[in-house]
Amino acid sequence: MKIMTRFKSERIAKFAFDFAKKNNRKLVTAIHKANIMKLGDGLFRQTVKDVGQLYSGIEVNDLIVDNASMQAVAKPHQFDVLVTPNLYGSILSNIGAALIGGPGLVPGANFGREYAVFEPGCRHVGLDIKGQNTANPTAMILSAAMMLRHLGLNDHADRISRATYDVIADGKIRTKDIGGSSSTTEFTDAILAKLN
Ligand SMILES: *[C@@H]1O[C@H](CO)[C@@H](O)[C@H](O)[C@H]1NC(C)=O
Repeated sequence: MKIMTRFKSERIAKFAFDFAKKNNRKLVTAIHKANIMKLGDGLFRQTVKDVGQLYSGIEVNDLIVDNASMQAVAKPHQFDVLVTPNLYGSILSNIGAALIGGPGLVPGANFGREYAVFEPGCRHVGLDIKGQNTANPTAMILSAAMMLRHLGLNDHADRISRATYDVIADGKIRTKDIGGSSSTTEFTDAILAKLN
């Protein structure tokens, strides 16, 4: 049994469409299991569609989570913004992270009514590489950039994220998780050098 309310479905749907609007995205896809969970997930799916009617210029569609998982691996480019209940979001964000290089790369943000918390997007704490100075700090750095953006410091956020992307794109200094042999410190120093 799980509890799904119209109020909270509306709240996350509005967040998704506002996010789409602010970031120039064109499509919001609701992910659900409404074929089986007809009441709870059915309410979620319908609420996202209803809220979508209030936003012109942004399309809305939906997929069951089974298909969404397959599509995310086979044809990820069809997606723009996904809005999902907690569990499907956790799974899909991990699929997304695996597709683009792993948990060391993907930033995340949690928004509540009063507070926002910025942290890597998939909860892999990396106990296996603890204390070795080999972790990829990209997810953490980009999470901090998201925090700066949230605070209206867009220039700072852009500079930091661009420097990070540039170091990765250069390919000379990479951590082990993305095929290199540089340490966390070397990678971070390279980003600092770009910033300067
Ligand atoms: C699965 O997703 C694809 C692409 O979004 C869609 O064309 C297809 O109809 C979907 N299939 C089912 C069974 O929902």
